[in-house]
Amino acid sequence: MSSNKLTKACNIDEIMENECVDIKITENKKQKSLFAVKKNGSFYVYLNSCPHIGTPLNLIPNKFLSHNDNHIICSTHGALFEIETGFCISGPCINKNLAQIPTTIKNNALFIKIP
Ligand code: FES
Repeated sequence: MSSNKLTKACNIDEIMENECVDIKITENKKQKSLFAVKKNGSFYVYLNSCPHIGTPLNLIPNKFLSHNDNHIICSTHGALFEIETGFCISGPCINKNLAQIPTTIKNNALFIKIP
């Protein structure tokens, strides 16, 4: 049975505009690696796994954006993803999507809904 429970990811003031944070959560004794990004005042959370070969997107903690902050970038082979949708617009996994995690904000904290 799917619980769809809310899990606190971080406080919203921990993420500045055009910045990201790594999020590690433990579900059923397994650690999941996610990241959150803030763009135009909205928050987006994705699984930290590139749809190309499944590696983490970042090599440096909290660094997921391209040099102009306009896209999420995979550090391994340079795929670019739309921040708002996770859709890949360039690179070896073009037209694939990052796995987006539903979010909600309560009491100045960002919560995620793990399916
Ligand atoms: S692993 Fe991400 S583009 Fe190849």
